[in-house]
Amino acid sequence: MRRIIPAAVLLLLLTACCEPVEPDLSAYTAGPAEVTAAEESEVKYVALTFDDGPRADTTAHLLDGLAERGVRATFFVIGEQVEGNAELIGRMKAEGHQIGNHTYSHARLSRMDRDTVIEEIQKTEVVLSELLGEGSWWLRPPYGLIDEGRASLVGTPMIYWSLDPEDWKLLDARKVADYVVKNISPGDIILLHDFYPTSVDAALEIVDRLQMEGYTFVTVEELFRIQGVEPENGVLYASPTRLRPLAG
Ligand code: NI
Repeated sequence: MRRIIPAAVLLLLLTACCEPVEPDLSAYTAGPAEVTAAEESEVKYVALTFDDGPRADTTAHLLDGLAERGVRATFFVIGEQVEGNAELIGRMKAEGHQIGNHTYSHARLSRMDRDTVIEEIQKTEVVLSELLGEGSWWLRPPYGLIDEGRASLVGTPMIYWSLDPEDWKLLDARKVADYVVKNISPGDIILLHDFYPTSVDAALEIVDRLQMEGYTFVTVEELFRIQGVEPENGVLYASPTRLRPLAG
């Protein structure tokens, strides 16, 4: 006689003998599906980063565009430009972006003495802390350059990049977007500058095109967390899984 095994018993047998099987209820739940660890590893995460701002007109336009698209990014700001643009910095924080330090006056750190390096970093930290309260403002050394001796003075992780379309040189939104879309890989940290209107247009085009390819944009901090990497102070990262050699 053929025995018909009820589905519930079958499920019990399966769960008893194998790895736990989570029933897929996603089709039955009304709310947004929660991302499980397994699903998270399949999602293609990347981080957009913007240097040399804030600049009143271009950064405001960028924040509008990112908000419309539900995208969080990371801004490595120049301390002396924060003054006069406090509202933009407040908006960045309120809208979930990460704010980082690009020194106070866009200094080439490797050419400066020890005290000036510390001052260039700390002055921006003070300006940001006054506006936003205490925080850890990760450093992107201008030009990505810092040697080993000066890196040891830095009390936060340092972030380089893994994809650079040279937006400042191209000054052409379509070309910048094409370069990024063609060369992107999951886990990339993309370098752009919110100082240029063409780069802002490029960034929004990059978001639109990569979201269609299944990419999700997160802050640099989130990218490290997702990849399970705890960044160390004074170390320069091209991405959470790749270090950038220190150089003057
Ligand atoms: Ni810069």
